[in-house]
Amino acid sequence: MNGKQAAALKAVEYIQDGMTVGLGTGSTAYWAIDYTAQRIARGLHITAVATSEDTARIAREKGIVISGIEEVDHIDIDIDGADEADSHLNLIKGGGGALLREKIVAKASRRFIVIADESKLVSTLGKFPLPVEVIPFGWQHTSRHIAALGCTPVLRYKEGRLFVTDSGNYILDCHFHQITDAPRLDIQLNGIAGVVDNGLFINMAERVIIGSADGSVKEWTIDG
Ligand code: 5RP
Repeated sequence: MNGKQAAALKAVEYIQDGMTVGLGTGSTAYWAIDYTAQRIARGLHITAVATSEDTARIAREKGIVISGIEEVDHIDIDIDGADEADSHLNLIKGGGGALLREKIVAKASRRFIVIADESKLVSTLGKFPLPVEVIPFGWQHTSRHIAALGCTPVLRYKEGRLFVTDSGNYILDCHFHQITDAPRLDIQLNGIAGVVDNGLFINMAERVIIGSADGSVKEWTIDG
């Protein structure tokens, strides 16, 4: 078992029968989907919503029925990965390009549990380029406004092709190197016309479960 698996296994223990569960996106969330599917096979009943088309496909392949977010009035628990997490439980997400749906699902959830291995822990956010989702119309102008906040935005390509999100938008990966005031930057970015949302998840995580290569886990909550 690696750190991602250990964190995912612990997080899935928080799922109880009858809950509506948000399924995250990425290689760590993959394991939470897998362990959830295993619990369902043993008799757990849940309603599941997905944070991306990739996750919906993976979950269905494992036998999990996926509901549309419009079919549920709340989500009890959302389990998702992160690209960086600091000691305030603030996050950078969106490395997989799913930040918008991930944020919508997390905000609709009573409990947002983040899973990661130790490599994701940072003292200051920003070494990982911050993904910003922008609408295609006029993205070059949007990019200039974002750059004025002190970063170098790079339009995302994947496997040689322009990356388009599940919602039909582009991603600008914004190289800030150090984000000293993440709550302020979050507001500034989302105030720019053309920005749909950004990968800063501020004051949203209830806990961050960190898995280690030896299979042990540590849980960080806002209270320590
Ligand atoms: C996808 C995400 C992922 O949660 C994040 O990129 C972490 O992925 P991984 O677990 O593969 O490192 O935000 O948009």
